[in-house]
Formats: sequence, structure tokens, C-alpha cells
Amino acid sequence: MEVVTEAVKELPLMERSAWKALNTHSKKIGKLHLRDLFATDPERGRRLAVEAAGLYLDYSKNRVTDDTLNLLLQLAEESGLRARIEAMFRGEKINRTEKRAVLHVALRAPQGASIVVEGRNVVPDVHDVLQKMTDFSNRVRSGALTGHTGKPIRNIINIGIGGSDLGPVMAYEALRHYSDRERTFRFVSNVDGTDFAEAVRDLNPAETLFIVSSKTFTTLETMVNAHTAREWSLAGLGGELKSVARHFVAVSTNASEVSKFGIDPKNMFGFWDWVGGRYSMDSAIGLSTMLAIGPDHFRAMLEGFHAIDEHFRTAPLERNLPVLMGLLALWNTNFLGAETVAVLPYDQYLKRFPAYLQQLTMESNGKHVTLHGTEVDYQTGPIYWGEPGTNGQHSFYQLIHQGTRLIPCDFIAFGRPLNQLKHHHDVLIANVCAQAEALAFGKTRAQVAAEGTPDWLVPHRVFEGNRPSNSIFAEQLTPSTLGKLVALYEHSVFTQGAIWDIDSFDQWGVELGKILAKRIIPEIESPVEPMLGHDSSTNTLIRRYRDYRQTA
Ligand code: F6P
Repeated sequence: MEVVTEAVKELPLMERSAWKALNTHSKKIGKLHLRDLFATDPERGRRLAVEAAGLYLDYSKNRVTDDTLNLLLQLAEESGLRARIEAMFRGEKINRTEKRAVLHVALRAPQGASIVVEGRNVVPDVHDVLQKMTDFSNRVRSGALTGHTGKPIRNIINIGIGGSDLGPVMAYEALRHYSDRERTFRFVSNVDGTDFAEAVRDLNPAETLFIVSSKTFTTLETMVNAHTAREWSLAGLGGELKSVARHFVAVSTNASEVSKFGIDPKNMFGFWDWVGGRYSMDSAIGLSTMLAIGPDHFRAMLEGFHAIDEHFRTAPLERNLPVLMGLLALWNTNFLGAETVAVLPYDQYLKRFPAYLQQLTMESNGKHVTLHGTEVDYQTGPIYWGEPGTNGQHSFYQLIHQGTRLIPCDFIAFGRPLNQLKHHHDVLIANVCAQAEALAFGKTRAQVAAEGTPDWLVPHRVFEGNRPSNSIFAEQLTPSTLGKLVALYEHSVFTQGAIWDIDSFDQWGVELGKILAKRIIPEIESPVEPMLGHDSSTNTLIRRYRDYRQTA
């Protein structure tokens, strides 16, 4: 099916009337302080908040007025956001440069739904794979599936990188509370041998199952690690080739490469080219997640994703959480000059959530040309980063509070803790509330002086405030909540990319380094001094490494 949404936004972004109006408007807003915005509107904290599917978003601490929000919503309309959302859900090939549909939403569509790609309803296919994953997980978790020597599988190692790693690791950590504590889960991604060596050093090959996760099954790092895993496993199992079938499964779209590697395609869990790597944690790439938390929890996670998908598709833009988050990120980036977004989960289980979001957001929206290949003349994807609160408070928050840069923050917190220890959770939540309050309102020179601070110290103790933040609260971190949170960010990324008019679903920027690395490997490993044709810096670095290598 051809892309039909192109007609919607005829004008380049900066020529759209809402963009121009936002530009003028931003000059006025620059002078307003959140202190004044709250003082003149006592209801602001309740008014600029929206709840959907159990996620509560308070966006009142952003430097926006009602006019700002109306203009941003107008920009979304002028940019054809609604049509773009519909196009995605209809299975159109909105990933223009790869000529692919973008249908991670189909991965969580309920049984009986219909989403058609090239004449085929893909929802039954999705549920077939889910059923295969369920059967496999049940067999491993019950102990029915044993290793080659008859021992139960106690250790599960996912080998993958990028989207085939970050989602599984993040979900495992996030949902560890719900996980099977009898089994060990590890994740090997880096081609640095240390990653593999440390992952297996205390494990028995007879009890270890590897999941080789790779959409393409050609990714260099994953293939190097998978071959090392095979050697390690075979060495521990008497070199018997038939042991591979019991200790290796694959998750991939590439059946022929999987069988070339030696994994029986019946031990392969498939997915499809319309699932982008960074949008794949809810596909078979989530097999390790299902093994850890069980099929029921995994399905609850999918339901959470789906609840936000439906909200994104149907809610009016002004009450639409992902749309509002996306528009605010765009406002902060393009009109207030922010370069980054800090994601600050006040939940230790979400410690890998910022790392996961880095790929989701930056591989999606780190683009310099529009869908039509013309150079953009505005900033695109901001840098996402973060650490769990409260640790970040004692590290980089100083710069957020008193540095010279504007760093919008997303605070994430939950009402009910999963580990209730005395009053830990009250202290945690007091901190998240305090940080958002301090960033927004700061502390004036007069307030500091009134505390008896000596004059010379006053400037150092002033907090300018007026630092924007979103607060995202939910009742508890459950599998369903995690699905909702991830879908919230996925669709916020979509919203931003749709307005920037870029392809949020390709990733050509990772190709050049891959190609050059493949050229350098034989130069490094050549037994004779190679002829090097790089620049003088790269040539010297390669020669230096070859020297180290000879003396190692
Ligand atoms: O880094 C580029 C990339 O293609 C990501 O988009 C993807 O998630 C990752 O590599 C891994 O790819 P694969 O699952 O094909 O091994």
C-alpha cells in the first residue's frame, strides 16, 4: 500500500502558520516565570493534567500558557498528525526509506482484531507466535524442558544488541519483582568479550539456555557472541552437536540465517519486518521477559501497551497523553532551546528505563533530513538521558537546578511500592515532589537574603527556577503499567517525528560505522603489515593497536 498521508502537510514546517505563531509567542513566554503562571491561576496544577488508562500526567510545570498549548495543538493539526496516526494503525508504509509498515501496535492487538498488511491480517500471526512463546515458557518454567544431559534449565542468557537487548534488559529489571527467582537471567550485548565472560563465568552449560535475538540475524556483535556461546556450550557438553537444539533458540525474522547458524527453525520464534528493532520488546524479542515473568504477566504487559495505543488513536489531541508529551518536548526543543530531556524514574526497578529510551528516542528522531530528503532547518530529536531518583539528586541535579542550560525533566513515580520498608516510599515520593517544585519555583534572592545569608553567599544560593518538568504518576509498577509507560514514549516519539516530518523508523546513521569496522577487522588481524588507506589518525591508531596486540 502506498503512502497516502503526504498531501496533508503541504508547507515546510517552518512556514506553517502555527509554527510562525509559536515563534512569535515564544518571545513573550520567554519572559514569564512559572511562579507567575501558578500565582495567576490557582487551578493550574489541576487544569494542566490529564489521566488515561491509569497514567496521570501533570504537565503544569512546563513554561506554557493556554495560548501555547492551543498553538501546539494547531501545529499538530496543520502537520497532519491525526492522518499520520491513522496511517500507522492502517498498516501503511510510513517507514518511507525502508518501504515498510510500522506496526508495533499490532503486537499488542487483542485476538480477533484485524490489522492488514499487504492483504493479510497479521493479528492471528502475532497470536500464533505468542502461543508458541507461551508453550515454550511453560515448558521451561515447569522444568519439563531439560538440557541435553537431562538437567533443568536454570540459566537463561539473551544474546542481542540494540532493540534486541535494551528492551529485554529493561523489562527484566523493571519487572524483576514478578520474576521467577529460581532462574538466573543474563543479557549479553557488547562484542567486548568481557560481557560474555562475566555472564557465564559461574554458570553450568548443562543448565544454560541461550536465546539468540536478532531481527536480521546478521548483526556483527550478536553473531560473534552467539558463536562464542555455541563454542562454550559445546565445550561444556562434550562437543555433541545435537546439544545445540536443547540449549539454543533464536528470535528473528530471518529463518535462513537461523538455520545456517545451526538452530532448528522449529526452535525459532518469528516476527516481521514491520516491527522496528527499538519497537520490538513486546514481540518474540520479549521471550526472555516471558520466561522471567510468565505468560500471564507478559499478556498483562501487552494489554497495558494496547490501552495506550487505543488512547493515542482515539483521544482528542488536547487530552491525549503521548500527543501532549510529544508537543511539549517539541516546544522545549524548538522554541525554548532545550537540547536534552532528563528521564528520572523514582523507582529502582526502572533503572534501565532511561537507557532503553535512549535508543527509542534518539535512533528514531536523530534525523537531519525530512521524509522527502530535504535538509531540516530546525532541531530534531533531543538527547534523552537519566538515572533513577534519588541517586541523580546527589550527582547531576546540581546542573539542572543551577547550571546555565535548560533541561526539561520527566519525573516518573508510583503510588504503591513493591517493597514496603518502613517509610522509604514516603521519603522517595517527597523527594520527587520536592524536585519538581524546586525546579519550577526556585528560591529568589530576597528569600535567600531573608534567611540571613551573608551578601557574598546570596548569589550562590539563589535558585532561578522556571525549569520545566512533567510528572508521570501511576498507582503501581506492574507489567501492565510498564506496557503503558513504554507505549506513552513510543507515541510521544511518533508525535514529534510526525511534526518534524522525518522518518522516525529508519536508522541509516548506524550503517557507516558498521561498514568501516568490517573493513578494519582484517587489517587488525592481518599476519603481515597491512597497507592502510585511512586518514593519518585512524592509520596510527590501528598500527598502535597492532603493536599492543603483538606484545599481548
Ligand atoms: O543499531 C542498529 C540496529 O539495527 C538497531 O536498530 C537494532 O535494534 C539493532 O541494530 C540490532 O539489530 P538486530 O536485531 O537485527 O540484531
